[in-house]
Amino acid sequence: MYLVSSISQLMTGKIKINSKISIGGWVRNRRHSKLGISFINLYDGSCIHDIQIIANNKLNNYKKEILSITSGCSLKVKGIFKYSPKNLQIYEIYALKIEILGWINNPGKYPISPKKHSLKYLREVSHLRSRTKIISCITRIKHNIALHIHNFLHKKNFFWINTPLITTLDTEGSGKMFRVSTLDLSKLEYKKHTNIFKKDFFGKEAFLTVSGQLNLETYACSMSRVYTFGPTFRAENSNTKRHLAEFWMLEVEIAFSDLKYIINFIEKMLKNIFQYVLNFHENEISFLSKKIDKNLFNKINKVLLNKFNVIEYTEAINILKNCKEKFSHLIIWGEDLSIEHEKYLTNKYFNNIVIIYNYPKNIKAFYMYLNNDKNTVASMDVLLPDIGEIAGGSQRENRINILDKRLKEFKLNKNDYWWYRDLRKYGTIPHSGFGLGFERLISYITGIYNIKDVIPFPRTPYNAKF
Ligand code: 4AD
Ligand code: MG
Repeated sequence: MYLVSSISQLMTGKIKINSKISIGGWVRNRRHSKLGISFINLYDGSCIHDIQIIANNKLNNYKKEILSITSGCSLKVKGIFKYSPKNLQIYEIYALKIEILGWINNPGKYPISPKKHSLKYLREVSHLRSRTKIISCITRIKHNIALHIHNFLHKKNFFWINTPLITTLDTEGSGKMFRVSTLDLSKLEYKKHTNIFKKDFFGKEAFLTVSGQLNLETYACSMSRVYTFGPTFRAENSNTKRHLAEFWMLEVEIAFSDLKYIINFIEKMLKNIFQYVLNFHENEISFLSKKIDKNLFNKINKVLLNKFNVIEYTEAINILKNCKEKFSHLIIWGEDLSIEHEKYLTNKYFNNIVIIYNYPKNIKAFYMYLNNDKNTVASMDVLLPDIGEIAGGSQRENRINILDKRLKEFKLNKNDYWWYRDLRKYGTIPHSGFGLGFERLISYITGIYNIKDVIPFPRTPYNAKF
């Protein structure tokens, strides 16, 4: 009897040496020695390790098939599980039978040959890039962090709410939304109708959501601690290393809490995630630090071991105005900080994570709680070195009269927000929340600074190839 296994199972140390095992995988690389032995490194993506298969010329297909194996071939191997006599790997498999499931057509042209490929090149072959050690490594870390976040929140009595992806409201008020429509744009007769969207699927204009927050707030105002974790969409025409048109966001909403509470909460949550990564992904991080960023452990520890820098927006403006750095954007109280300003604060001035709070009301969304000074809102942005903003949040405006004024200032029609306003009419409560860009977080943790490399199939302007 052969025990069907994965490489991750073999690496647990729980499989008995000399047991007969069966394993499937793809060839990373292979070496055929003159002594009639082939060494085949096999991967199956289940963990960071490959396993070495020792195949000797006694196998009946040795000459006819095994000698022709190339990188990328898929194999089913039956064999004996052994300790490796060499120190390079702990275990290896002495093959009793090797079945070639799939050959590589024209090996010279195989896009994922064993040579080193740039991440940029790999983006062009996104359908095959998870075969590389780097991409599969990021994918495993990402999966485990997502699970860890669910567990973390579950233990803290949060409920996962599945907010809709199709919406009729622009949460952030930026208007950069993708339209969802079943109207046939090629048929111009629709233009004759004064309100063509009455004829559309939902009977009104609909879009892909930029944030689940407004819907999430309805559950926070009844179930207290809730979160949503899913894809969000932004039709911004920004082709930067930090922007995707489709990305995943974790949004947390906490009833009976204020800005200070969520600032403390996100610090605890991020530290918990970073600690988890160090505890459970040491192998992966050490691999990525060899391949991508030799400073990776330091960067993770820096966030983990220090108290977060928390400063008011006005203080940030003062720091920037008084520093000797030359910026290309002016520093004006009341305007948004540009990425160069944020980078100065995180990379140079504090050399660590920074939370900026109490932004001017005009540069933030309508739903943020208006502070007593009437000029600022109880908002916060969490900024990481190299990455910039990874999370944004606020205390929510829970006073109906002020919310209505803010909607007016933003030229938003309060009737469109009737259900959101109802929360303020029926048993309103102070509540606060934030949204964390999942890919930006993964970017920092893995040291992969192009966000397009931490999502399987990136969507960016003019790019939805796969
Ligand atoms: O700051 P944002 O726009 O906040 C919101 O959407 C709030 N409704 C969240 C809330 O309070 N519930 O977006 C939150 C985070 C950003 O800090 C950033 O990390 C990420 O989402 N993000 C993007 N990530 C990748 N590509 C983009 N185009 C992104 N836009 C925002
Ligand atoms: Mg923001």
